[in-house]
Amino acid sequence: MAEATKPAEGTKPAEGTKPAEDAKPARSARPARRTDKLNLPALLDAVRILSPSRDSGVHGEEHWRRVAMNGLYLADEVGADPVMVVLFGLFHDSMRFNDFHDSQHGTRAAFLACCLNEQLLGLPEAQMDVLYTACAEHSGGRPTDDMTIGACWDADRLDICRLGDAVDIRLMSTVPGRTLGAQRRAQELLETTPSWEEVFTRLKDGE
Ligand SMILES: [Fe+2]
Repeated sequence: MAEATKPAEGTKPAEGTKPAEDAKPARSARPARRTDKLNLPALLDAVRILSPSRDSGVHGEEHWRRVAMNGLYLADEVGADPVMVVLFGLFHDSMRFNDFHDSQHGTRAAFLACCLNEQLLGLPEAQMDVLYTACAEHSGGRPTDDMTIGACWDADRLDICRLGDAVDIRLMSTVPGRTLGAQRRAQELLETTPSWEEVFTRLKDGE
């Protein structure tokens, strides 16, 4: 008996022939998630290496993590993009040269995110535009109607408690960001700053 031969590429199998098991279209176990494209550990390494401010007690890495976590809570409440708020937390103060007057630090952070996008973030242009604006304009002192950018900026402003200052409600963009509950939560995060692992786990769990 002749051995069954595999049809040549592009050849239609003969009628009634059952396709081989391995010819079935592959099914993924779960739908692709946006964080699949993000190489978070490598991204974190890159920002840490390039950041002049990562060790700052005021604008360094602990502040970045609290902003990311505050942003995730707000994103849940206002339907903002959780990936954006975590990336904002990571980038927004990463390119500060000092803890005082550095008016261009947001623009430098936005530029760094653009430079790393292709290799480590994988954001489409529209999302990159949102992240760019959120970083570049975050210290401008005004609220916004864009709920994703608003969640980013409010998350940053909520961490003002690290300096012992009160939140200026007039600058807050989101309704949940203006509540005492959000301020209490920000205070709790100050007492127990989350690790990046906790931030990334919450991001992935929320998808
Ligand atoms: Fe900040």
